[in-house]
Amino acid sequence: MTVTYSYEALPVAEWFRRNREIAGFQNPARAMYQTVRELVENSLDATEPYGILPNIIVRISAVDETRGWFSIYVEDNGVGIPGNEIPNVFGRVFYSSKYKIKQHRGVFGLGLKMVVLYAQSTTNRPIAVRSASVRSDKIYEYKLMIDTTKNEPIIVDVREFENKYKWHGTAVKVTIEGNWLNSKKRIEEYLKRTAIISPYSEIYFSGPDMELALKRRTTKMPPPPKEGLPHPKSVDVDTVKQMIADNRGATLIELLMNNFDRVGEGLAKAFLEWAGLSPTRKAGGLTQEEIVHLVEKMKTYDGWLRPRADWLSPAGPELLEVGAKSILGAEAVFAVTRKPSSYSGHPFIVEAAIAWGGQIPLVDKPILLRYAN
Ligand SMILES: Nc1ncnc2c1ncn2[C@@H]1O[C@H](COP(=O)(O)OP(=O)(O)O)[C@@H](O)[C@H]1O
Ligand SMILES: [Mg+2]
Repeated sequence: MTVTYSYEALPVAEWFRRNREIAGFQNPARAMYQTVRELVENSLDATEPYGILPNIIVRISAVDETRGWFSIYVEDNGVGIPGNEIPNVFGRVFYSSKYKIKQHRGVFGLGLKMVVLYAQSTTNRPIAVRSASVRSDKIYEYKLMIDTTKNEPIIVDVREFENKYKWHGTAVKVTIEGNWLNSKKRIEEYLKRTAIISPYSEIYFSGPDMELALKRRTTKMPPPPKEGLPHPKSVDVDTVKQMIADNRGATLIELLMNNFDRVGEGLAKAFLEWAGLSPTRKAGGLTQEEIVHLVEKMKTYDGWLRPRADWLSPAGPELLEVGAKSILGAEAVFAVTRKPSSYSGHPFIVEAAIAWGGQIPLVDKPILLRYAN
């Protein structure tokens, strides 16, 4: 008997088919909610961290009632996407500008692509994008699809316009198979929850039989998060290998000081001595086993300082209060932001608010709204 094996990369279409449930695209109602959510989160990520007060417009309209086709349009006033990057961010799975240590909502470079693939698999219509980055002379318009065998964007159409009024932002329109009746409630709740936690944003929504104007309640925004370096306890072997590849000529002491959060000369030296590695050795000379040893020691060393928390951007009690009072119509709100803490070198901040009275309905069990970034 002969056995033959064939090797091949998993085509994107197949990958999408296998993962759509986890990503929230298992049926038309869920997919509609998830599409709104992915697009709105990207809009918030393109505004808030850059100190721009978000103006977001969301529009859902029926395109073909019998087939359950809807168009979903989301527009923002964010930093926009450089023209030459538009095809990639919409048409290449795992392509993102957010692989940095900084707080934001999207992390896997997947959101938009899931939306495009879902649209393709149900209506086969391209996604339409209009975007201009800050101070750009041009506005770019693309119609894009994904080549699901090659994981590459297909440019169906591209146009450029003069950006006379220096508009910046992004507008995206997709046509998907959806279910408005069964997603309406969830979409409404999602938008309201978003407004509670970001009362400095202005969100206008219009759906087939519903409008929602979530007005800006304050112009105060949390301080934008800074970009950070990883904490020595938080990295894995692969990350350190990559760092070494980029800094082959550095000594171990330099490697630690330049690439990690809150590691100064004295601390780097003390650690390396404790780990049995010479501080003056060249990083590029470490063997694979030594790299594994280094990472193990980094994870177990007690002497590191607590990670910095300035790449987090807590809302703060004042904003939580404004959000809960205005959107929930609460009579009273108590809010706290706790001191930064960390787990395995990853800093986090816990914030909580209790709201009651006013328009909050009387119920047996309190309503719990949980947010995680
Ligand atoms: N509304 C937007 N404004 C500016 N940039 C955007 C917007 N939407 C998406 N992008 C860019 O496209 C990239 C990919 O988005 P996405 O696929 O949702 O992945 P993620 O949000 O995880 O990075 C983002 O990292 C960002 O650079
Ligand atoms: Mg995203």
